[in-house]
Amino acid sequence: MDREKPPLPPILLGGLQLEGLEILLVDSDPQGSARDWAAAHEEQPVPVVGIDRPIIDKSLKSMGRKDFIVIDGAPQIEALAVSAIKSADFILIPVQPSPYDVWATSDLVDLVKARIEIMDGKLQAAFVISRAIKGTNICNEITSALADYGLPVLTSRITQRVIYPTSAATGQTVFEREPDGEAAHEIQALIAEIKQLLK
Ligand SMILES: Nc1ncnc2c1ncn2[C@@H]1O[C@H](COP(=O)(O)OP(=O)(O)OP(=O)(O)O)[C@@H](O)[C@H]1O
Ligand SMILES: [Mg+2]
Repeated sequence: MDREKPPLPPILLGGLQLEGLEILLVDSDPQGSARDWAAAHEEQPVPVVGIDRPIIDKSLKSMGRKDFIVIDGAPQIEALAVSAIKSADFILIPVQPSPYDVWATSDLVDLVKARIEIMDGKLQAAFVISRAIKGTNICNEITSALADYGLPVLTSRITQRVIYPTSAATGQTVFEREPDGEAAHEIQALIAEIKQLLK
C-alpha cells in the first residue's frame, strides 16, 4: 500500500530540536512509519529507535537521559499501547474533527484516565484536533464533545495542509521545508502549549 508517513511525532521533534534540546523518537508502531520516515532522509534528521514490544519503559531506561522523548503510539489498544502509556509523562491524543473519531477514542481515554488516577496526577493528557479544516465550525463542536471526556482540549490545532504529507515523503519536517510557514507556526504553538502544561 502506498501510504504517506505519519507527520505528527517527527514534526513535534523537529520543533523541539530547533530549541537545542536533546531528543529521541520512539516508533512503537509495528508498521514502522516513523522509521520509514527517518530512512527517507539522506542524513537522519532526528534519532529514531523502534521499540515495538511491550517493554517500552524498560528499554527507555537503558538509553540515558534526553530532554524529550516522543513515542509514536501504536494504533490498537493492546499491550504495546499500554506500555507506551506507562512510559509517558504526557499523552497527546490527536483527534480528527469528526464525531466518529471522538467515539473511536473512548477506549483509549478510559485507559489514559485510569493511568492518571494510578499516577496520582503525575501524568497528564490532552486532546489536540488534527486535520482541522479552516473556516468550518465542526472543530468547535468537536471541542465540546471531547471536553465531556474530562481531559483538556488544547487550543492549538493542526490544520489540514498538504505540506505535512509532502514534507514527510522526503523524510523532512515542515521546519525544513518552510521554517517560517503557517504549519511551522502552528506546530510551534502546539509545543509551547504542551510545555506550559508540563511546567
Ligand atoms: N494535518 C494534516 N494535513 C494533511 N495530511 C495529514 C495531516 N495529518 C495527517 N495527514 C495524513 O493522513 C495520513 C494518516 O496520518 P497519520 O499516519 O499521522 O495517522 P495515524 O492516526 O498515526 O495513523 P495510524 O493509526 O495508521 O498510525 C497520512 O497520510 C498523513 O500524511
Ligand atoms: Mg500512527
